[in-house]
Amino acid sequence: MSADGSSVDLRRDGQAAVEWVARYLEGMRELPVRAQVEPGDVRDALPASPPEHAEPFEAILRDLDEVIVPGTTHWNHPRFFAYFAITGSEPGILAELLSAAFNVNAMLWRTGPAATELEELVLDWLKQLLALPENLHGHIEDTASTSTLAALAAARELRPEGVVLCSEHAHSSVDKDCRILGLELRKVAADGEFRMRPEALERALAAEEVAAVVATVGTTSATSVDPVPAVAELCERFGAWLHVDAAYAGSAMVCEELRWAWEGIERADSLVVNPHKWLFTPVDCSVLYTRRPDVLRDAFTLLPEYLRTNVDRVTNLMDYGPALGRRFRALKLWTVIRCYGREGLQGLIREHVRLAQLFASWVEAEPGWEVVAPVPFSVVCFRREGSDEENEALMERVNATGEIYLSHTRLDDRFVMRLAIGNARTTEADVTRAWELLRSV
Ligand SMILES: Cc1ncc(COP(=O)(O)O)c(C=O)c1O
Repeated sequence: MSADGSSVDLRRDGQAAVEWVARYLEGMRELPVRAQVEPGDVRDALPASPPEHAEPFEAILRDLDEVIVPGTTHWNHPRFFAYFAITGSEPGILAELLSAAFNVNAMLWRTGPAATELEELVLDWLKQLLALPENLHGHIEDTASTSTLAALAAARELRPEGVVLCSEHAHSSVDKDCRILGLELRKVAADGEFRMRPEALERALAAEEVAAVVATVGTTSATSVDPVPAVAELCERFGAWLHVDAAYAGSAMVCEELRWAWEGIERADSLVVNPHKWLFTPVDCSVLYTRRPDVLRDAFTLLPEYLRTNVDRVTNLMDYGPALGRRFRALKLWTVIRCYGREGLQGLIREHVRLAQLFASWVEAEPGWEVVAPVPFSVVCFRREGSDEENEALMERVNATGEIYLSHTRLDDRFVMRLAIGNARTTEADVTRAWELLRSV
């Protein structure tokens, strides 16, 4: 029995767990990417009631192999090309283990001095890596949905009656956040390349009081980039808060050649980047930067007696977002950045962009196939000649093989497949296999 009363022998079982992780990652290519189970299979394979007596830890690893792995869609698989492909990198995985050992709740500086100061430090590093202005204040949330919620809550402080504007291609988290906050949302039309139209935005800003505009750098469907300089100009003219959603593409700004997409970013009141999307950090890790932390604090500061401490002039992270309790997420971002270095991060992102361009070139060159949106980053939107139903059936056949996993969207009211590259272990051979399957199933 261990000192905490459980059945675990930390050294022995810990080694077995790390060994399990290594085998899982090494053997991933042999696993079907998309889980091949039916609803209910996983529950049916496991006891419906908790154990009366302590079980050995090895029983957990056995169940992982027998039930959890087959019941998992493997987001960490090099042939996972759906949604936005992501990476729980090895440094990130180890840092999650260490963070659980600390188990700190950094709601206040006093309750987590190192977690608080490391979060501030690593977000300063991230600003440098992504060429963001020095004056931004950053903090970590779980997801972009929460980061945008926090930004819109701040905007609402300044204009409680105002509406929110975003393009028709903005992520649905903006809709959900507005619903939670009781803010009206209006959609602004986009151009032929899925970018917000500044003339349409200007008309919307002139029509009523606007609390915030959400511009997207790297939209969810097509990874298009809204014209941030023109949007910023209009926000300044009409006194609206500008929030930039760079949840996916923000990480790519580690590469100088992609920074055209950052033009005007210094004029944003807030912006969100998710290192858990394209910076090799395990879910969850979303960063909200703002140049107006005072407004964010006005929206979220609330101090019951039991949280009062005798230290001032420190950051209390609970003042910047909706949650009180905060886990030590900075540790994994810090570990990832240190174990790759700027060079390593740039190398991976450049390779992903190269692979996406390569795949797009194959699609373009093939009669009867079409790339349906520009490819600025690592996502290719494409379809085959034929009806929506035929394209959907093709995607379903490909996904059913288990060899790769693609997802879809609608652009210009047509069904479109998406191939998203973002896993650190993806190779050219994986992308080649995706193309072979698409043409042969
Ligand atoms: C552009 C964009 N913003 C926000 C989100 C929401 O991200 P999260 O799951 O972190 O809330 C997504 C999800 O894919 C996204 O693509």
